[in-house]
Amino acid sequence: MRSIQSAPLQGQRVLVRVDYNVPLTEDGKVADPSRIVESIPTLRYLIDRGCRLVLMSHLGRPKGPEPSLSLRPIVAELERQLGRTVVFAADSVGPATEEAAHRLGEGEVLLLENLRFHPEEEANDPAYAASLARLGELFVEDAFGSVHRAHASTAGVAKVLPAYAGLLVEREVRELGRLLETPDRPYAALLGGAKVKDKLPLLRSLVGRVDRLLIGGAMALPLLAPSTVTDPKLRGQVEDFLAHAQQGRAQVILPEDFVLRETATGAIREAEGAHVPEGWAALDVGHRTRAAFARALADSRTVFFNGPLGKAEEPAFAEGTRAVLTALRSAPGFHVLAGGDTARVVRDLGLSDAFSYSSTGGGAALEFIEGRALPGIVAIP
Ligand code: 3PG
Repeated sequence: MRSIQSAPLQGQRVLVRVDYNVPLTEDGKVADPSRIVESIPTLRYLIDRGCRLVLMSHLGRPKGPEPSLSLRPIVAELERQLGRTVVFAADSVGPATEEAAHRLGEGEVLLLENLRFHPEEEANDPAYAASLARLGELFVEDAFGSVHRAHASTAGVAKVLPAYAGLLVEREVRELGRLLETPDRPYAALLGGAKVKDKLPLLRSLVGRVDRLLIGGAMALPLLAPSTVTDPKLRGQVEDFLAHAQQGRAQVILPEDFVLRETATGAIREAEGAHVPEGWAALDVGHRTRAAFARALADSRTVFFNGPLGKAEEPAFAEGTRAVLTALRSAPGFHVLAGGDTARVVRDLGLSDAFSYSSTGGGAALEFIEGRALPGIVAIP
């Protein structure tokens, strides 16, 4: 990828796609500034070269203008992180925004309103992309979390303006690329989360590439007992994956026991096997599983983690994730975490130091690791 480090930047007006799709508190403050913090090196690099910055991002999934999803609350946090004033444009395109972009002096920063207030953004509408492109002379893609989207602000503008990768996108591709190219082996993937449906393509891809595939969370249940899956299409996909896994490279390690909670009484107990009695829910992996997972990770030299192993937002069901990640912390190797929600769970458990690299991407990181060509990356020459 062509990098900003090789771009003729001096004094240019640069349109930068950032991913400021960050969680907000109920009173509209930034709840987790990680993605803003991670964008700062690129912004500083550009500012140091006298660039005038026009920043664009989406926030949430609005279907048109939605005041609660305005990017305006980001301004204060960005100013704090960047240590300089940020001007806000109340629309991502249009004459007033163009005028604001053209008024920028060297090192000045303009943040555009949520791109998704225009449905043309997700439709990758060429006219909307052209309007965005009028705001800059160069385009910098630094929104790694959004490179799996073929939208006007990712793939679209890259067709109109000379496109370069920002430092964050470069770093993500380099670090996550280590999992694709020549990972140190044994290579283990530790996956959790609720919905197996969303993860099947990733599981299919990983089972041919990793040495150990450890699956926890509620999504392990249909893999242990496909006959309990009521949706016939999903049952077919699960069975198909299990058959495919038998020919795969990986040893698939599924939970042996679970922590169950009775819905009516709140009673908690551990049980072996995948049978969840009527009126109970499986909300964490049990002690035997934790020990088996810890053993499988102990001598793995590369580990990729996404998704908690139980309902970790409830302390009673965070213990499986805590135990396995605590074991991982003392194991050597290259440990990578992907996904904003996963990163927050890990941070709340105080176990961020179990990882050598934490990606800012959720869906983008998973698709990258799956080996797919991502539109926002492909668009950069
Ligand atoms: C993310 O948070 O994963 C990215 O910002 C992409 O958001 P999206 O799934 O709404 O496109």
